Amino acid sequence: MRNIPMNNGICENYEQKQGLILVIFFTNISPTECNTHFPSKIQHMYTVSPITKTMHTRTCQLITRQILPFQRASTPHRHHHLLPPPSASVSATAPLKARKTHSLPAEKQEIFKLMEPWASEWVLPLLKPVDQCWQPQTFLPDSSLPFEEFSDQVKALRERTKELADEYFVVLVGDMVTEDALPTYQTMINNLDGVKDDCGTSPSPWAVWTRAWTAEENRHGDLLRTYLYLSGRVDMAKVEKTVHYLIGAGMDPGTENNPYLGFVYTSFQERATFVAHGNTARLAKEGGDPVLARLCGTIAADEKRHENAYSRIVEKLLEVDPTGAMMAIGDMMEKKITMPAHLMYDGEDPRLFEHYSAVAQRMGVYTADDYADILEFLVGRWRLEKIEGLTGEGKRAQDYVCALAPRIRKLQERADERARKMKKPHSVKFSWIFNKELVL
Ligand SMILES: [Fe+2]
Ligand SMILES: [Fe+2]
Repeated sequence: MRNIPMNNGICENYEQKQGLILVIFFTNISPTECNTHFPSKIQHMYTVSPITKTMHTRTCQLITRQILPFQRASTPHRHHHLLPPPSASVSATAPLKARKTHSLPAEKQEIFKLMEPWASEWVLPLLKPVDQCWQPQTFLPDSSLPFEEFSDQVKALRERTKELADEYFVVLVGDMVTEDALPTYQTMINNLDGVKDDCGTSPSPWAVWTRAWTAEENRHGDLLRTYLYLSGRVDMAKVEKTVHYLIGAGMDPGTENNPYLGFVYTSFQERATFVAHGNTARLAKEGGDPVLARLCGTIAADEKRHENAYSRIVEKLLEVDPTGAMMAIGDMMEKKITMPAHLMYDGEDPRLFEHYSAVAQRMGVYTADDYADILEFLVGRWRLEKIEGLTGEGKRAQDYVCALAPRIRKLQERADERARKMKKPHSVKFSWIFNKELVL
C-alpha cells in the first residue's frame, strides 16, 4: 500500500491507466486517517457516504490487492490534470513535483504590502461601480410583469433556444457549473499569502479587489443558471447536484498559497474563460439566439477586464522582481494550468469533466489550441522574451516558457494524429441533458 500526501482531507492522486483518469478524493476522512489512494471506481462511495476508519482501511486493503497492481511504482505525486482539454494528451512538462504550501518567503510577501498604493491606482480602477454593472435581470424575462407578459417572454426564450444543439447545452452547463463553484475560487485567492482578506472586510486593495471581483463573478453563474432553467433544455436537478459536488470537492490549482503563482494562474484562467464565453456567444448567435449571444459576450467582457487586472499584477511583479516572477510563470506552466472545475461530478459519470471537455473541444469552445494561444498571448503581453536582469534560474525559466507554446502545438498534433488512428468514436450519456447520448 502506498502512502500519498494528504492535505485538507483530500487524498490527492491522479493515476492514468488506459486513458482513464482516476480522481481520488475524500471529503469526510481526516488527513491522518487516509494515507492510501483509490481508483475512481470507488471514489464517489466516499464522497457521498460517511465512512469509518475501519471501513476505509479494509477497503484500502481490498482495493490495493484487487485493483491497484497496475499502478506505477513511482514516487507519490500531486494532481496531474489533463487539461488543456482532456482529449489532448499533451505532456510538455517535467515530472510533477510533490505539493508545496506557503512557498513564498515572508520577505517576499512584503512586496505585496509595498505594492498596495500601486494596486489601488492600477488594479482597483478595473472594477466597475455597481450602479454601472449589468445584473442577470438585464437579460432575463421580467417576473415583475403581469403573468401573461412574463410567460410570453419565457416562451420567446424557449423559441430562441430550441434550435441549439444538445452539445451546445452540455458546454453551456459545464461553463455554468464552473462559474457557480465561485466559493472555491474566492477561497483559493484568500489562501494566497500577502494578499488575503484577513478579516472579511479588510481595506487592503488586494482584499477590496477580491471581494468585488467575487461579486462581479457571482452574476455569471446566476445568469447562466437562470437562463438554462428557463430554457427547459437541461435537467436542472442534475446540474444543481453537479454544482453541489463540485463545491464540496474544491480544486487544487498548484498555487502553493503563493501570490506569484496565484496571479499567474488567474491571468491564464480569466483569459481562458474569456475565450470560452466568447465562443459560446458566437455559437448562440449562429444557432439563432441573439440574447444568449449577447449575455455570453457580456460575461466574456467581464472576464477580459479581470484578465487585464491579473495580468497587470504579474507585469508589475516582473518589473519589481523579474527572476521571481519569471520563475513563477515557468513553474505554473510546467505544472500545466488546471481547469477550475476539474473535479466535477454529477453522481453518475466519474469522467464527467473529461467528457464535458471533449465536447467543448469538438464544439471549438475551448480547445488544446486555445491553451497554446493563451500562453503565447501572455508571453507577448508580458514581453517575456525581452525581460532582462534575470539570474541563471530566471533565464532558464524564460527560455522554457518562451519556447513552450510551439512545443505544445507540436506534441498536440502528434497526439491528435495518434488518437485519430486509434480511437473509435464512442457515445456518452450526459445526465445534464436527460441522459441523451452524444458521440465523442
Ligand atoms: Fe466568470
Ligand atoms: Fe472571471
